[in-house]
Amino acid sequence: MCFSATGNTRGVARALAGAIGADYLEIEPEQPYTEHDLDYDDETTRATVEQRDGTARPGIASAMPEWGDYDVILFGHPIWWETVPRIMCTLFEQNAAALAGKRLADFCTSGGSGIGRATDELKGIVPDAEWGVGRRFEASASAEEVAAWAQGLGF
Ligand SMILES: Cc1cc2nc3c(=O)[nH]c(=O)nc-3n(C[C@H](O)[C@H](O)[C@H](O)COP(=O)(O)O)c2cc1C
Repeated sequence: MCFSATGNTRGVARALAGAIGADYLEIEPEQPYTEHDLDYDDETTRATVEQRDGTARPGIASAMPEWGDYDVILFGHPIWWETVPRIMCTLFEQNAAALAGKRLADFCTSGGSGIGRATDELKGIVPDAEWGVGRRFEASASAEEVAAWAQGLGF
């Protein structure tokens, strides 16, 4: 599953799904992010305001999968202000019971920040799952590189 505002993580996630033969599902916000919403040089724009508000939970428009059909779920997302976009918290909180007990891992693209804080935030919402070690990728990562990470998770 993937949330991507500007396409970088989408490209990596689609390449991964193709390489390992996984289903691909995109997490679409109820209110799409405009270019202005994503301008992190302006402290008043939507994404920055949401990230500063630990309780912000932007709505999700996409239908959720039949969770029971999946044992392993990999989540792709960008890094926003060193952590997950708040919509990932919406996803995890709304589906915490369904995700418990599954094998989960996250991957990201970013301008350089690592994935550690993001993974910890998601783990904190669904601690009772088997968590693989997350990984940051460049937007230009090859399908082989991302697939090697997924296959190395031990799931
Ligand atoms: C609101 C916002 C905050 C960001 N904060 C960070 C950050 O803290 N560290 C970083 O390395 N990149 C940061 N970025 C850059 C994105 O993580 C990067 O461009 C990512 O590849 C975007 O993925 P996407 O195209 O799938 O949305 C930020 C981008 C946005 C829009």
